[in-house]
Amino acid sequence: MRIDLLGIFPDFFTTPLNEGIVRRAREARILDIGIHNVRAYATDRHQMTDDRPYGGGEGMVMKPEPLAACLATVPPVAGKRRVVLMSPRGAVFSQRRAQEYATFDQLVLICGRYEGVDERFTMRFVDEECSIGDYVLSGGELAALVIVDAVCRLLPGALGCADSAEKDSFSRSLLKHHQYTRPPEFAGVAVPEVLLSGDHAAIARHRFVESVRITLARRPDLLSGLLLSQEESRLLRKEGLLTAVEEAGARHAPSLA
Ligand code: ADE
Repeated sequence: MRIDLLGIFPDFFTTPLNEGIVRRAREARILDIGIHNVRAYATDRHQMTDDRPYGGGEGMVMKPEPLAACLATVPPVAGKRRVVLMSPRGAVFSQRRAQEYATFDQLVLICGRYEGVDERFTMRFVDEECSIGDYVLSGGELAALVIVDAVCRLLPGALGCADSAEKDSFSRSLLKHHQYTRPPEFAGVAVPEVLLSGDHAAIARHRFVESVRITLARRPDLLSGLLLSQEESRLLRKEGLLTAVEEAGARHAPSLA
């Protein structure tokens, strides 16, 4: 997959894209990144990428021509491509959206600054707007980096352990269970016995129940997307959690029998 980032602060991307999982994915040619400096496509003497808003008002607006000229230089990749404008007005990014983006061959992320981007650029060149949450950042760069990271982890081969992306929080409308490593006791707290038992089925059951408890306590809204197998329903009933989970909107998968 290739991700192209367009903005007026290209240096913003350097360190985050050269560390950890993203770095490894780039080295393994699982992810190709292109960084494009919109300012280099400004046509006036002062290399202006913004201007005052028509109609008056606070702040500046990103000019459409440098953005369009910069976008025109982004090398196309064969296959599915999407052009996304980072903006607090967009649909809110989610694990589901990350999964969708991970199926594209090329993602072009446009990072605005100032009060916004001239609507004619958005109208003609942008497929969708994407927000990372209901707060306003000083620019789209941090938001674009969030997307690169979340998408990168989902690319086949990007994570050391093949199935760890599937076990992440949200991949199944559940928050992740607690994690423990050595030592077996720390600050007077012991690791739950079952995790030391070597009984993988019991560990999986324990973790599932813990995930459900944590999600009920912290993000019950997520549970409306949860589909329970018969075995899971039985387990939750035994733990006294089934009613709460059903009330939060979880549904039962149709039985295969
Ligand atoms: N630009 C400014 N705020 C943003 C947000 N919340 N998400 C995406 N892009 C942004």
